[in-house]
Amino acid sequence: MTYSDKVVRQFVVMTVVWGIVGMLVGVIIAAQLWLPQLNFDIPWFSFSRLRPLHTNAVIFAFGGCALIGTSFYVVQRTCHVRLFAPRLAAFVFWGWQLIIVSAAITLPLGITQGKEYAELEWPIDLAITVVWVAYAIVFFGTIVKRRVNHIYVANWFYGGFILTLALLHIVNNLSIPITLTKSYPIYTGAVDAVVQWWYGHNAVGFFLTVGFLAMMYYFVPKQAERPVYSYRLSIVHFWALISIYMWAGPHHLHYTAIPDWLQSLGMVFSLILLAPSWGGMINGIMTLSGAWHKLRTDPILKFMIVALSFYGMSTFEGPMMAIKTVNALSHYTDWTIGHVHSGALGWLAMMTIGSLYVLIPRLVGGTTMYSIKAIDAHFWISTIGVVLYISSMWIAGVMQGLMWRSFNDDGTLTYTFIESLAATKPYYVIRLLGGLMFLSGMFIMAWNMWKTMAAGTVRDIPVKEPAPGMA
Ligand code: HEM
Ligand code: HEM
Repeated sequence: MTYSDKVVRQFVVMTVVWGIVGMLVGVIIAAQLWLPQLNFDIPWFSFSRLRPLHTNAVIFAFGGCALIGTSFYVVQRTCHVRLFAPRLAAFVFWGWQLIIVSAAITLPLGITQGKEYAELEWPIDLAITVVWVAYAIVFFGTIVKRRVNHIYVANWFYGGFILTLALLHIVNNLSIPITLTKSYPIYTGAVDAVVQWWYGHNAVGFFLTVGFLAMMYYFVPKQAERPVYSYRLSIVHFWALISIYMWAGPHHLHYTAIPDWLQSLGMVFSLILLAPSWGGMINGIMTLSGAWHKLRTDPILKFMIVALSFYGMSTFEGPMMAIKTVNALSHYTDWTIGHVHSGALGWLAMMTIGSLYVLIPRLVGGTTMYSIKAIDAHFWISTIGVVLYISSMWIAGVMQGLMWRSFNDDGTLTYTFIESLAATKPYYVIRLLGGLMFLSGMFIMAWNMWKTMAAGTVRDIPVKEPAPGMA
């Protein structure tokens, strides 16, 4: 019996491809915020249409392919079996690509539900549901037929992510279709907002965090050649995140028309969330104990440790921003954009990159990437890129917040909105530079992946026998 790795290889290649596409669109919209003329007065090239294209491409295409691909790899290796229903797994791959392409066509055309991160219209939502159910069948089917008793913690994280996403997707997208390209949500007003941000926050929590923690719990120990620092802590980490994340959504709706108690509830749960998040981060970082010296020579571990540090940073910053008085300053400003990308680029993109560098050679019968120097170059260019991106947005955000709340003695505003925009321009240029650097790193990765795959040989890898006493 051999592992079904073809589908993993396909997902891995598409992760890099969609990463480049999504980040390229990110760079374009970053340039448009600096020079609005860059939309060339073409509607489908306008910021408002390209922005959701960027978020969908990086989250669901880049992030989604990374998560599904690595989960198919990890679940086979940790359960000592071949994938359950490999043909269904192939359907998941092609179905997911088709959904991405439909998004890439409909979003620039302006076809949207108008809900952030849930923009896609109902026919595509139905397709997502079908593909997701197929994904769940393959993943959990593989767990069911496992040859070891224990279910490794990474699978708990992947499993939590798969189940929660199904729930979020269905509840938030319940709508009444009017035409093939237009539908209206069944919820109205403030209820719609609460449902949307229950979805939005948990999409961050379960898609952008829990799924990537699964990756962390498999690939960090693998690369460090050390066991997880505290297996018990990883279980506590899992259950604590699962039970707390669900309640924090209203922090996206501070000072809006939703009930005040709900906003406070969101704030309190966000503060509590700091504890398990940091528990997980410490667990990841401490997995390197005894292997710290490897950081000197291993750029893959550098990616992972920097990713974990950004995970810690963004999960400290998030709870702070959830405090109502802090949010009064940060909301609507570029501070939020800085926070988002310290999580998105610093944490999840860097963890994905590190994990793929471990995975790619193993998928073509090798042990290391074609060029370690190129990985090192990639590491530095992307780290400097993220730092430029987020520090410029933090400064811009705090500046905007302070300018908007500054009053003259007679009660009039000290600055017009356009003045704050003009003051932000230099920071938009720095952000663009940071984004360009991160994107260039992805090209280095694509080249390195190409070379590694071309030098390797695709062969069937036999399923490993479970250790005695484990079955
Ligand atoms: C080269 C890299 C990237 C660049 C240059 C970039 C640029 C941008 C820009 C300019 C915006 C719009 C900001 C605004 O509306 O003011 C944005 C939004 C966003 N980006 Fe990126 N991005 C990059 C990578 C990523 C990645 C890898 C992810 C996630 C995996 C991501 C997730 C998001 C999200 C979620 C938003 C919406 C934020 C919000 O609504 O608050 N980005 N990005
Ligand atoms: C303990 C963990 C976290 C908490 C409590 C938290 C809290 C927050 C808060 C308060 C906001 C601003 C809401 C607003 O003013 O509109 C926000 C926005 C956001 N956060 Fe976090 N955050 C956390 C971790 C993360 C991580 C790890 C990511 C990963 C990528 C992330 C992604 C985002 C995104 C995408 C938004 C923008 C949503 C939007 O308005 O479109 N957060 N978060």
